[in-house]
Amino acid sequence: MKIIKVKNYDEMSEEALKIVLNVVKNKPNAVLGLATGSTPLGLYAKMAEDHKQNGTSYAECRAVNLDEYVGLDVNSDQSYVYFMRENLFKNIDIKLENTHIENGKAADKDEECTRYNALLDELQQDIQILGIGSNGHIAFNEPGTPFDSVTHIVDLAESTIKDNSRLFNSIDEVPRQAFTMGLSNIMNAKKIVILANGSGKAYAINELVNGEIREDVPATILRNHPDCTLICDELAGKDI
Ligand code: PGA
Repeated sequence: MKIIKVKNYDEMSEEALKIVLNVVKNKPNAVLGLATGSTPLGLYAKMAEDHKQNGTSYAECRAVNLDEYVGLDVNSDQSYVYFMRENLFKNIDIKLENTHIENGKAADKDEECTRYNALLDELQQDIQILGIGSNGHIAFNEPGTPFDSVTHIVDLAESTIKDNSRLFNSIDEVPRQAFTMGLSNIMNAKKIVILANGSGKAYAINELVNGEIREDVPATILRNHPDCTLICDELAGKDI
């Protein structure tokens, strides 16, 4: 795993932007694996700014997102489909019909997982952007998720519900379940970039870099990937 340690959040986002632009310039119809959360917001703002200033086009790109809350769809401003539209898609020229995410409102959840896995088989990510949970989760693959997992439904860990409650009016509003790409879907990406900032991520980053590769800390599987880059700020990387 390549490690890029930077001073702060802005530099982390800038380094990530360089890698994304390189992928898109070399392959205009690249499949972008995207993530939600606070971590990639700076990257998305920089992609939007670059699109505006330099005209980098995403018109031929496809996007696949990691995860979505069960029960939420675009009509909820807490859904991840809404997050992506507001924070990235409306600010670049990607076509909405080329953007994909699990349907949080699917009537048959198992069928939805099957549909999304088939889609991911067709749309191998040229690059996958990841954040990391304070407990070492990636997407909503919580500790204990099998390394060979594909898209599935998860019961969210209490720590994740607590971490994410800041984005809801109250902790009771945080959904208890989510759809998530599995670890094997993530590892299938040609290139992975994992971003982390802030001291809340220091434990997870230390485990990712120095811990035993084990299902109890899902992110450790990334050390088995041939092209994975960790970009972290000083606080997240303080123990590595
Ligand atoms: P965050 O979430 O970017 O909001 O910190 C990361 C994650 O839980 O994967």
